[in-house]
Amino acid sequence: HTIQWDAEAAEKGGYEHYMLKEIHEQPQALRQAVAGRIDPIEERVDLDLSLSRSFLDDLDEIQLVACGTSYHACLYGKQLLETLADVRATVEYASEYTVGSGRDPSRTLVVGVSQSGETADTLRALRMAKRTGIRTLGVTNTVGSTVARECDDALYIQAGPEIGVAATKTFASQVVTLAMLALDVADTRGELDPAQGRELLSNLQDLPGAVQQALDRDEAVREVAEAYAGGEAFFFIGRRFATPVALEGALKLKEISYDHAEGFPAGELKHGPLALVTEATPVLAVLTDGARPEETQNNVKEVQSRGAPVIAIASESGREGDYEVGFDVPDLGLLEPLAANVYLQLFAYYVADSKARPIDRPRNLAKSVTVE
Ligand code: G6P
Repeated sequence: HTIQWDAEAAEKGGYEHYMLKEIHEQPQALRQAVAGRIDPIEERVDLDLSLSRSFLDDLDEIQLVACGTSYHACLYGKQLLETLADVRATVEYASEYTVGSGRDPSRTLVVGVSQSGETADTLRALRMAKRTGIRTLGVTNTVGSTVARECDDALYIQAGPEIGVAATKTFASQVVTLAMLALDVADTRGELDPAQGRELLSNLQDLPGAVQQALDRDEAVREVAEAYAGGEAFFFIGRRFATPVALEGALKLKEISYDHAEGFPAGELKHGPLALVTEATPVLAVLTDGARPEETQNNVKEVQSRGAPVIAIASESGREGDYEVGFDVPDLGLLEPLAANVYLQLFAYYVADSKARPIDRPRNLAKSVTVE
């Protein structure tokens, strides 16, 4: 007999798709993201930035620009920067970016977040900022990429290669990198609350373990995904730090399963989306700490009273309540939504897999979009 050697199967390390492999690589990627950057004795981060301390200290505003999944990481990063460093942070789709009026270019920093470092829209925004005299920082996974080369400074997320078109592990690594940036900027500006800083540092170190706990429920998520895969549409809700993860959960599902999926802040449900909710639209609710889970529980009741089944992903503060399905997230402060996101990634994957979609290469999409 002959032995068939399939190089691609070997690279997938026993997983059926790169995407599933990359979802499972997250604990390792997250350890790499912080490796050498957290000093546990001094209780601080060292990112080796070349941007000067006085520049960071004098900043009026940090503008984050990105596309797709990286844009969602920016929404999370904005909240971390504003919470920890007390600096104004804005987020814009790179394709929509304008410097904006009333900015002092010498007191503005533009952070371009791009896994590939080659996304045309993001490069356009960064170049526009640069022409105006604004300093730029690239946050990317790709050493030597155009974003890394053209920005004044680069911060690598160190996630390792990502092959699946739908970004997974790099989202978590981007958020963690932005969390470390927030700690660094907060410290430089003398704004870091020591207790808050210490808590986030310990959350960063506990995150890989928490993500592993979610990954260990892989089989249970598969069963739930198969049970609900027939939904007509899927809605994802969260608050505060959980909102970017709700948006990201919906993006993952639509990218690879081709189902209609939408994410929004839970508070916005009543301002429109509720009209779409029926017994045929499963709602995935992220109830995590710092996200006012009691209020999201009220939103859960609103959709349940219209017959929608709720798949809740909750940490201790959000666990009370009656859900059709519930998954647990360990206590992890501001990083809880990142652990919750693992369930959403697995859910999207298994819904798509049950429909035999070409998960690693979804129709009409590309890993890196190099045209505007
Ligand atoms: C494409 C990919 C997305 C990605 C986006 C931004 O649309 O399909 O997965 O999030 O580009 O890519 P970037 O490399 O800039 O993070």
